[in-house]
Amino acid sequence: MRIPAAALDALRQARHVVALTGSGASAESGVPTFRDAQTGLWAQYNPLDLATPEAFLEDPALIWRWYRWRRELVAQAKPNAGHFALAALAERVPRLTLITQNVDGLHQRAGSDKVIEFHGNLFTERCFSEGIVVTDADHEAEVPKCSACGGMLRPGVVWFGEAIPETALEAATAATADCDLFLSIGTSSVVWPAAGLAAAARANNAVVIEINPDVTPQSGQSHFCLQGKSGEILPELLDYLTL
Ligand code: APR
Repeated sequence: MRIPAAALDALRQARHVVALTGSGASAESGVPTFRDAQTGLWAQYNPLDLATPEAFLEDPALIWRWYRWRRELVAQAKPNAGHFALAALAERVPRLTLITQNVDGLHQRAGSDKVIEFHGNLFTERCFSEGIVVTDADHEAEVPKCSACGGMLRPGVVWFGEAIPETALEAATAATADCDLFLSIGTSSVVWPAAGLAAAARANNAVVIEINPDVTPQSGQSHFCLQGKSGEILPELLDYLTL
């Protein structure tokens, strides 16, 4: 696509870039976005009804089956050109902070380090009652148990209605306050507090660029909307810095 010269200038001049990604960043890797209808076994379920503490308490075995299915899906997926471009971008700008709402670990597999995982990670487990992360879960059990308290383990992700992990929230808030360019990539910008980060950056005079094939509530609040797939647009932005 034709990227406006002013957007490219903002990138070239940026001192600190913050990139916030959502599930659209992994769409080209074959991982369905959160608000897409599910296919196959899980087509009858709405993910928004499964990703809650209430759903887990009602039927922990069902929720664990869903998460194991998602783990398998992600394990088979590979990072796409957008993930790789973001990892390379970190080497080309003075500072880049990557915040992701994704739990799939694909940014890390593409070579990004120090990724702020806003919504946790699909491949970790936490004790449901104590919240602590454990590393000795029995992966064969239908509902794995905490070896310390005997209670249920749950996937180490953030569900609807739950707080963002404190360290992730603090790091994301500080980076957003400091950045001069904010990239909102592949997110529908409807889930808070992540959805508020772009506005916070803009209030602090950062340039906001959205990358998304669709219009979102963030589009009207962005300085530039690059309408297209992140796996195509991010490599173009990177190429521009390489020229
Ligand atoms: N490139 C860029 N964006 C894309 C692409 C693509 N190839 N394909 C789809 N998109 C966009 C869609 O247009 C949509 O705006 O990605 C967005 C995906 O939106 P959601 O499915 O709502 O995902 P996300 O914004 O990450 O959801 C936020 O909500 O469900 C919870 O915890 C879950 O982290 C998730 C959070």
